[in-house]
Amino acid sequence: MDLSDDTLAGMEQVARDAGALLLRYFRRPLAVSYKGVANLITEADTASEHLIRERLAPIVPDAAFLGEESGGELSLSGMSWVVDPLDGTTNFAHGFPWFSVSIALVEHGVPVRGVVYHPVLDELYAATAEAGAFRNGVPISVSTTGSLVDALLTTGFYYHKGGELARQIALFERAHQRVQTIRRPGSAALDLAYVAAGHFEAFWEQGLSPWDVAAGYLLVQEAGGRVSDYAGRPVRIGEGETLASNGYLHDEMVVLLRGVRGSTSPAAPSL
Ligand code: IPD
Ligand code: CA
Ligand code: CA
Repeated sequence: MDLSDDTLAGMEQVARDAGALLLRYFRRPLAVSYKGVANLITEADTASEHLIRERLAPIVPDAAFLGEESGGELSLSGMSWVVDPLDGTTNFAHGFPWFSVSIALVEHGVPVRGVVYHPVLDELYAATAEAGAFRNGVPISVSTTGSLVDALLTTGFYYHKGGELARQIALFERAHQRVQTIRRPGSAALDLAYVAAGHFEAFWEQGLSPWDVAAGYLLVQEAGGRVSDYAGRPVRIGEGETLASNGYLHDEMVVLLRGVRGSTSPAAPSL
């Protein structure tokens, strides 16, 4: 489908408006409920998704809608909006100023336009397939760091705290031995945007949903980086494992992640 040049501009405006709405709720008394143990939803998540859904509809009227809070589905035969109205809800609910709005337009399951907005810093990350990635209109690119020992990595742990958590912590420890250091900021969409902009060399997390990653994958790819599963294979949005990097460190990251992919996986060779 041919998209007009205004499509991205429209998405950017919607993300900015949703971000402004979030700031009106931020650090004020907030109605909070739980989707699961430790998995919060606030009135700001719901209000943001409502605004985004309403405002996106006229931009590409035929597109399906998949949003974290209202559900829906991803059309594999056409266009879909894939929306996280507030990525970093736990941070938001605690007044920690690291959260974002993520909006992607996805065609046949592949992101073709993406925006991630960080309202507190007023940073708008935007990408169009095959046309590059930008922050507030200025082109961005991944870092050129080629050695793990100089790398700043970022990761996340998903809400489920079952047996998987031990494996994730083991991986964190293993990675930490080899790199400069690791952050866990709490917004996967921003983790990806910050890989795209060259601030992090790589990001990994498992269990992410399409709305967490759709815009971010496009940002990383358009900024010259690479996105795959932990084994380095191509990955579709929301397919379980995310490894995003500046490209230079991707193969080394795959080796690093290999040792803890499953109890039957062989131990990774030393790097
Ligand atoms: C979460 C954030 C977090 C990641 C979780 C996500 P939410 O999204 O992106 O960084 O570690 O896996 O679910 O719930 O704040 O939209
Ligand atoms: Ca999210
Ligand atoms: Ca969310």
